[in-house]
Formats: sequence, structure tokens, C-alpha cells
Amino acid sequence: MRRKISMCFIGCGQFCRCFVPLFKKHPDVEYVAVCDLIPEKAQEYHEKFDVPIVPTFEDAISDPKFNAIAIFVQRHLHGPLVIQALKAGKNVYSAVPVASKIEEIFEIERLVRKTGLTYSMGETGYYRACAVFCREKMAAGEMGDFVYGEAQYNHDQRHFHYEHEGPNWRQVAGIPPMLYPTHSTSMILGCLPHVYATKVCGFGYREKYMTDIFGENGVNLWNNPFSNTAMLCQLSNGGVARISENRRLAFAGPNSYISQFYGSEGCYEFAVSHHYFSHWSKEDRKKLIMEEVTKELLPESVTAVLNNPDTPQRISDGMGFWESSPRQHTERIPIEIRHERNGHNGCHHFMVDDFCQAMATGLLSPTNIWQAARFNLPGLVAHQSALQGGILMDVPDLGEPPSDWPVLKLD
Ligand SMILES: NC(=O)c1ccc[n+]([C@@H]2O[C@H](COP(=O)([O-])OP(=O)(O)OC[C@H]3O[C@@H](n4cnc5c(N)ncnc54)[C@H](O)[C@@H]3O)[C@@H](O)[C@H]2O)c1
Repeated sequence: MRRKISMCFIGCGQFCRCFVPLFKKHPDVEYVAVCDLIPEKAQEYHEKFDVPIVPTFEDAISDPKFNAIAIFVQRHLHGPLVIQALKAGKNVYSAVPVASKIEEIFEIERLVRKTGLTYSMGETGYYRACAVFCREKMAAGEMGDFVYGEAQYNHDQRHFHYEHEGPNWRQVAGIPPMLYPTHSTSMILGCLPHVYATKVCGFGYREKYMTDIFGENGVNLWNNPFSNTAMLCQLSNGGVARISENRRLAFAGPNSYISQFYGSEGCYEFAVSHHYFSHWSKEDRKKLIMEEVTKELLPESVTAVLNNPDTPQRISDGMGFWESSPRQHTERIPIEIRHERNGHNGCHHFMVDDFCQAMATGLLSPTNIWQAARFNLPGLVAHQSALQGGILMDVPDLGEPPSDWPVLKLD
């Protein structure tokens, strides 16, 4: 018997508007309401999506009508709200990241373990076509042992929206990049079951121009001087990952991607619009086979014009943003939402369906708290490392989910 979902969305901002229609149409969901601190924003959603308004977060978590809360508030505010929702007995869907503080992530794990409630972090990086490709190649044994990977999330300040933050918007705009590491880390670690970062060192770029946003003289809530930060991670399987979180640079599309994912037997590489897979020949052990796999990893509308001179520009401008690629398994998505808009290159449907499937069945979402913690914790430590000039630091690990709580097999 599948459990039905009755959900209140907290935070009617830019991103949540992509998800209200999807959850509303998902066959496991029977009731949806919205809530925002700013009444006009909740009102806009009410009118646009025909959903009732709940006045406050506290009203939502104390109302027995709701068995799930979806957190879509600003990226640095998740931890305390998730903890309160779990303590109130609600299942939680959270936008990325899990939380900004290590102790909050530990507390969320403790509560999920104790209560058995569903927690799922909706991570686009886990479902990007490049991640699905590398995950499946690894699982099939075609890449051998993972040795080295590079992933990044490039998102320049000028493409964020802070209008509604009011005159103090710079205080939150200057968030340390490594407090939001999960798009990048998930693309690598999401392909490597049971693997996690054991040690990291981080190096930050001290912003030289936008010093009214990034700086140590109180311009932001964290006294954070870095607009861009990179970390090198030692992984538990012996491999190494370089992860970069950049908020001030001239690169936009695609904004999160694996540039290299190297295994002893097979390697993946990507640049702008072309994806490659190289591997050793089965017949001739010294012969390296190089295949272009672009058609599997870009939407058909993009591959149709791949060799046009303006295609890199159009990709940078967002061509294909709402579509999935052949590698992504859209056939698993319930028909009720399969043809809805599917943002971040065809990832949103998977995040919604993961949560619904997990809550309806009682199994774990692939981006459960144990996995999400492995995506999030290395970045929090790397920021501390960068502040201390790149010292090598241990990364805490919350281990594996309880052995009697299996993960859904979905993708
Ligand atoms: N690729 C991705 O996965 C991706 C992309 C974009 C945004 N996000 C995430 O989505 C989340 C939302 O981002 P956004 O750009 O829509 O933010 P936003 O600033 O546009 O909206 C956040 C809203 O939350 C409201 N809010 C804050 N605290 C609240 C509370 N206690 N109760 C009720 N409402 C509250 C604010 O008033 C605001 O309207 C962020 O966590 C961000 O990290 C993820």
C-alpha cells in the first residue's frame, strides 16, 4: 500500500516555481500548499498554481494535514528548518544543500535515523546526463577503478537574483562557495557507491573587484573573502577529486559539469558541447579506443544542430536547459509529469520522483541524508582549510544508511 503525500512548500522564490506543478501532478501526491515569509510571494503562487496558502512555517509543521514539508528557502537557511520539520514528525524534501554547518548535518542524520522519516535532498548534479553516464559505466565495470575526477559548478554573481533580499542583499550574496558544493561533488561521488572524501585541502581566490560582496570586513554574514574556491579531495577508494565552486568567472553554460572522470580502464571527458569516452580495446590491450558519445548526453534538439557554428553560444545561452538526454531514464518518470518542463537539463523530474517514491514506499531516496552528507561535508571542511591557507583536513563521515533501510533502485 503506497502512502499518499500531503506537502507544504516553504519558500515561494525563483526555484520553487519549477516544483509546485510537478509535485502537484505526481500520482503519489494528493495535497499541496505553499508558504512564504513575504505574503505577496505566497499570493503569487496561489494565483499561478491554484494552491492554498499556509501563513507561516510554524503553522505548516504543526498542522497534522501535512505529512511532508518541502524546503525552498535561501541556500544558507536549510539546516534549522529541516531539523524543526523532522522534530515535528514531517518527511522532508530539501533543495540543496543539506545545511551550512557540520553539526546541523549530524543532527539531521540523527533525527532521520531515529524517526525513519524520509529525507531527500533534490540534487540536480546526481541526475545530469554526464553523471548518469559515468555511474552506469562504472557499475558495468567499463571504467575499472576510479582514479581521478574533476567537476565544477560555475555560477557568476551576475546571474543570481537578490532583488527581494532588500538593501542588505550583499550580506547573503557573499556566501562561501564551498558552503554550496553539492552540485559538483554529487557528479563524482554519485557515480561511486560507498566512496567518500577522507581528507581535503581547499584554496580560495580572494575577490579583487566585488569587494562589497566578498571580504573579511563584515560585507557578508560569513566574513568570507573568497568568490571562487577549489578543493582537492582524497577519496576512500584511493582516488582523487578536484572540485571547484566558482562565483566570479566568465563561464555560463553548462554551469555544472564533469570535465574529467578517469578510471583505470575507461575515461570520460567533456568540453562545452562534446562528450568523449575512451577505453582500452578488449582485443588489443595497448590500443586505446576513443568514442564520441555526445548524442547520448545532449538533448536531441541540441545534437540536431551540434556542428552549427553558433551552437556553443546557444548552449551557453541555455539551449536544452528544459530537456533531457537519451542517457537519462525518463521512461521511469510517471506519465502524469513526464512531459512537463524538466529543468537543469532534464533533472527536476528525477528529484521529485525520488522523494515521492521514497515516501510512498518507505525506502530510501538515492540522495538520502547519508549520501547527501557525503556530498556536503567535504565543502564545509574545505572552506575552513582555505581560510587557513590550504591545510590538509580530515572530513567527517556519517557512514552508510542502516542496513535494514534499502535505497530505491530507480535510475
Ligand atoms: N540546481 C539546483 O538544484 C538549484 C537551483 C536554484 C536554486 N536552488 C536552491 O533552491 C533554494 C531556493 O532558491 P531560490 O533562488 O528560489 O531562492 P529565493 O531567494 O528566490 O526564494 C527563497 C524564498 O524563501 C522565503 N523564506 C525564507 N525563509 C522563510 C521561512 N522561514 N518561511 C517561509 N518562507 C521563507 C523567502 O521569503 C523567499 O521568497 C535554495 O536553497 C537554492 O540553493 C537549487
